[in-house]
Amino acid sequence: MIWRPYQQMKNLAPPFRIVDAEGVFLYTENRRLIDSTSSWWCAIHGHKHPVITNAIVEQAKRFSHVALAGLTHDPVERLSAKLEEILPGDLKYSFFSDSGSVAVEVALKMALQYHVNKGNFNRTRILSLKHAYHGDTFKTMEAGDYEEYHFILNAYGKKRYNVHIPTTITDLESAFERYGEELNCFIVEPLLQCAGGMRVYNVSFLKRARELCDKFDVLLIFDEVATGFGRTGNRFVSDLVHPDVTCLGKALTGGTLVTRRPSPTKKFFRLFTIPIRKKR
Ligand SMILES: Cc1ncc(COP(=O)(O)O)c(C=O)c1O
Repeated sequence: MIWRPYQQMKNLAPPFRIVDAEGVFLYTENRRLIDSTSSWWCAIHGHKHPVITNAIVEQAKRFSHVALAGLTHDPVERLSAKLEEILPGDLKYSFFSDSGSVAVEVALKMALQYHVNKGNFNRTRILSLKHAYHGDTFKTMEAGDYEEYHFILNAYGKKRYNVHIPTTITDLESAFERYGEELNCFIVEPLLQCAGGMRVYNVSFLKRARELCDKFDVLLIFDEVATGFGRTGNRFVSDLVHPDVTCLGKALTGGTLVTRRPSPTKKFFRLFTIPIRKKR
């Protein structure tokens, strides 16, 4: 039995059984579907892209995975050099993890450790946005603002280390005024909150956030797991406003090396999965 994400198992509609995929299309035995979410923003070059498939095959003939502890290899060095080249400013260090959620976890840990290393142990709060989504692991659930997660987290009591604000400059300034000395980071999905309902907000909010983070020594983290690689019309939103840490995922692998979990907006996106013809 497979436990499906974000769905009530009791009244679950039978899922489409996918047997093949190419470009924007997914195929069942007798139908062709448009993968209108690019398998949740992962398959940005389309499914079964020959360049990616060949690269994986060639690499697998040498080795598939080698841990980076005490070891290194060309593929990881080429990838980090490429990221260094295309990311702006001093975003020059890559830490590799296994999913978008874990990338965010790592960033949140880095922010806390940044302050602890400086001998500051009272920077325990995280500032994030209303309607935020940062993943499904514990701390990312807390940083996110998804009703059903917070309902479950209430089991741990009401004490929260997170403050959630709307995307207005007034709310931003009030939050820094009130919590500025307790915050270790401000984490946002920059410009576009995807899973929270495709909410777009103004770059002036991010510019003001940058100023306040500098003033209060708070790390600004951009979760570009969904917005990265061109989704907002910019290669990265980090090209417009410079964060201290950027989290990438999904499109980074073209959707080939990871098994993606969907985001909580699954139902919203399902509406756009259109059967377009009967026979392949
Ligand atoms: C903005 C954002 N951050 C983090 C994640 C979590 O990524 P993953 O599913 O790879 O854990 C998602 C997933 O949709 C996301 O949209």
